[in-house]
Amino acid sequence: MTRVLVLYGTSEGQTETVAERIGDVLEAAGHDPTVTHVLYRPESLRLTDYDAIIVGASVHGGKHQRYVTRYVKKQVDELNRLPSAFFSVSLTAAEDTDEARDRARRYVAAFLAETGWNPDETAVVPGALKYRQYGTLKRFVMKQVAKRTSEDSDTSREYEYTDWTDVESFTTDFVGSLEKSSAR
Ligand SMILES: Cc1cc2nc3c(=O)[nH]c(=O)nc-3n(C[C@H](O)[C@H](O)[C@H](O)COP(=O)(O)O)c2cc1C
Repeated sequence: MTRVLVLYGTSEGQTETVAERIGDVLEAAGHDPTVTHVLYRPESLRLTDYDAIIVGASVHGGKHQRYVTRYVKKQVDELNRLPSAFFSVSLTAAEDTDEARDRARRYVAAFLAETGWNPDETAVVPGALKYRQYGTLKRFVMKQVAKRTSEDSDTSREYEYTDWTDVESFTTDFVGSLEKSSAR
């Protein structure tokens, strides 16, 4: 049974939902996941108690949560020693153009360059538009952003773009690679 730590940062909750789904997939596959928010992790948490680590964060204003960047920088030696994976949640990842795909990958590249982390796997995950959770200004700004790329500007509802099949494949591929390397 592989002990996998899933650490995440989130601003409106979608990355938490993705992290929880990753935990569910791991558990269903017979592994032992621990899913926790980077800021609210237990004090006793030690990366060395795990066989593998998955970190997730979302993009706001072109960057991932600063507290996740700080945490990864601090733990980078352990993260580079253990099998690890990073997933990045954004709206750019939901856009179906080459330019957007490049931009979503650039968010990841910038995060990895800044932290010095070299994970075994990375994924870009389409996020959500949670108009009902935004304050007035954020709702207005996000509506203008959404209008440029989609029709999704009804602020009385929420839009979710996350492809759950891709999230499941990312998780099973990652643990599959762990099983293969431990069998060698
Ligand atoms: C204020 C704000 C700024 C955002 N900036 C970006 C951005 O620069 N690029 C992008 O691709 N998505 C951007 N997004 C979309 C978020 O990445 C997306 O809503 C994601 O699902 C948020 O995940 P979270 O709920 O875990 O924080 C932004 C969202 C908000 C509310």
